[in-house]
Amino acid sequence: MRPGDTRAAGPALTEIEALRLDAEQAALILGGLDTGFLVRCVVPITVPDLAEATALDFSQTGHLCTALQAIGVLEEENGRYRLTRHYAALLTEGSDLHALNVLHGSAVRQRLFTTMFWPAEAGPTAFWHLDRADQQALASSVSVDPFAPYARSAVEGLIEGIPPWREAFGSGARYLELGCGLSGMLLTSASIYPGLHGVGVDLSASLIDIARARAVALGLERRLTFTVVDAAAFTDPEPFDVVLWSQDFFPAAGRKSVLANAYSRLRPGGLLVAPVLVPMSRPHDIKSALDTLLLQSWDVPSMTGAEVAAEVEAAGFTDATIHPRPFHTVVFAHRP
Ligand SMILES: C[S@@+](CC[C@H](N)C(=O)[O-])C[C@H]1O[C@@H](n2cnc3c(N)ncnc32)[C@H](O)[C@@H]1O
Repeated sequence: MRPGDTRAAGPALTEIEALRLDAEQAALILGGLDTGFLVRCVVPITVPDLAEATALDFSQTGHLCTALQAIGVLEEENGRYRLTRHYAALLTEGSDLHALNVLHGSAVRQRLFTTMFWPAEAGPTAFWHLDRADQQALASSVSVDPFAPYARSAVEGLIEGIPPWREAFGSGARYLELGCGLSGMLLTSASIYPGLHGVGVDLSASLIDIARARAVALGLERRLTFTVVDAAAFTDPEPFDVVLWSQDFFPAAGRKSVLANAYSRLRPGGLLVAPVLVPMSRPHDIKSALDTLLLQSWDVPSMTGAEVAAEVEAAGFTDATIHPRPFHTVVFAHRP
């Protein structure tokens, strides 16, 4: 092939073009959500009104609407643009906040994937050693936003669907979360169940700072405490009824001692909950291969629900059960 002759590479370049278009569409949606542009299109709006509301140039507003229409986000009728039914669903219950978190997290993942090819960047870095902004973006993308209504229905739907979890939280449990990060789960659970008292533990001081501030903003600070410490070393004189282990972010080396500590912190008969947010398929499909790549860069093993269940039983927990849910799987087990 001569330089400049792209015929032989035609099929590959067609795929690159499709990838480029996907990435650019995601960027348009991110911008439209981030700036409030799309929220203004919940009801039909003319380009001049939209330009005035967003303080954008009139012709740029028109071009943005045309592009958003082409990718199926907006539709036009009688000179007014509004969200298509498909995308209008994003604006219900604050799901747009979750969509934004996912897209911001993806931007960080894209950069991390690119730098994995640079020799100086190679080798595992613990998640909590990433810079503050990256930690926050990645943690948000796998969390729920406790201020958004969707979080309540998502968390309530999950817990209420699993009897031992529902019974424990409904009757005022002492709850420990090992690897609480931004604490979307902990804060939302405490908002739903008024008798719940919780402790969140994480090695990331910056995520714990945010979790603490959120607890105050939600009026939950009297029932929740947060500690920056290794989950393997956390102690408390009182036993817990439920321990949730955010195992997806826990490196291989420390997992046994974290599980041993979870066992010691639980009362006999207490419940261990281990969500598998990044479900693995074997052989890997694209999603699972990319997630595995990211996890291994933090020295975290990528595991299926069945493998997490076996790991938990090897640590002495009994009756491990696996509950597949639409976006993730949850493993449960008991301390005998
Ligand atoms: C992303 S969070 C989990 C999200 C959380 N369940 C929520 O609802 O927002 C997982 C956390 O595990 C923490 N982690 C990993 N290993 C840890 C360890 N040994 N001790 C304490 N925290 C750890 C990471 O710092 C990360 O913040």
